[in-house]
Amino acid sequence: MRAGKKVVFLSLFPELLKTVCETSILKRAQEEHLLELFFIQIRDFSLDKHRTVDASPYGGGEGMLLRVDVLYRGWEAAIQILKPLTDVKPRTIYLSPQGAVLTQEKARALAEPNDEPLILVCGHYEGIDERFLELCVDEELSIGDYVLTGGELPAAVLVDALVRWIPGALGNELSAESDSLSPAQAASEGGLLKYPQYTRPPTFQDKGIPEVLLSGNHGKIEAWRKAQRLAVTQRKRPDLLKKP
Ligand SMILES: C[S@@+](CC[C@H](N)C(=O)[O-])C[C@H]1O[C@@H](n2cnc3c(N)ncnc32)[C@H](O)[C@@H]1O
Repeated sequence: MRAGKKVVFLSLFPELLKTVCETSILKRAQEEHLLELFFIQIRDFSLDKHRTVDASPYGGGEGMLLRVDVLYRGWEAAIQILKPLTDVKPRTIYLSPQGAVLTQEKARALAEPNDEPLILVCGHYEGIDERFLELCVDEELSIGDYVLTGGELPAAVLVDALVRWIPGALGNELSAESDSLSPAQAASEGGLLKYPQYTRPPTFQDKGIPEVLLSGNHGKIEAWRKAQRLAVTQRKRPDLLKKP
C-alpha cells in the first residue's frame, strides 16, 4: 500500500486543477509523497462521437446537467485507480453550493492520517443528475454561500486547506494548529483568529511594532498574543465568539 493521502479529481477542466496543484506547498507535499493526486477527465467517459457529457433537464428548465452515466463511468475509473493503492474505501465528495460549508475543522478531519482516499467530483453547467448523488456521493461540501461556474476552484480550495493538516506538509517552521480558526485555538467551539504579526523593518512610515515583541520575554509575548487573539476575533469576527 502506498503512503500519502490520495485524492482523485473528476473534472471537465483537470488542467485548471493541475495548475493550482503544481504550486507551492501542494507541489512540495506531492514531491515528499505526503499527497498523491490523480486527475480524471469526465469527457473521456462519454460514449458518443461528439464526447457529449451533458443534457437538458427532464421537465424543462434552464441549462444543462452532467449526465449520470458519463459521471458514473468516470467514478468507476477513479475507484479502479485507487484499488491497487489502498484497501480503504474511498470517500466521494461532490463540491456543491448545497453542501455543508467547509471549515478548518472539517479540513483537518479529512486530512486525518487514516488513509481514506478522496474522490472529489467537480460539477459544471447547472449541476449534475441527482442519481449520481444517490449512487456514489458520501458527502456534499460547499466553499461558501455563493455560486461558482464549476467545482474545480472549490476542489482546489478543499485540497489546499486539507494539505496544511497533513503532518510534515508545512515543514517545521509552520503549524496549522496556530492558524486562525483552528480548533486547537478554541476558546469557544469555533476557534479564534490569529494575533497580529510583524516583521522587518521595525519602523515603517512612523509606525513601530508593539514593544513586547522586542522584550525577549517569551511569557509576556505569549500572554500578549493570547489577549490579541481574543481582541482581534472580537473586532473582526464576533460571531465566532458567540458560537455555542
Ligand atoms: C453553477 S453551479 C450549479 C448550481 C446549481 N444549479 C444549484 O443551484 O445548486 C455548477 C457547479 O459549480 C460547483 N459549485 C458552485 N458553487 C459552489 C460552491 N459554493 N461550493 C462548491 N461547489 C460549487 C458545483 O460543483 C456545481 O455543480
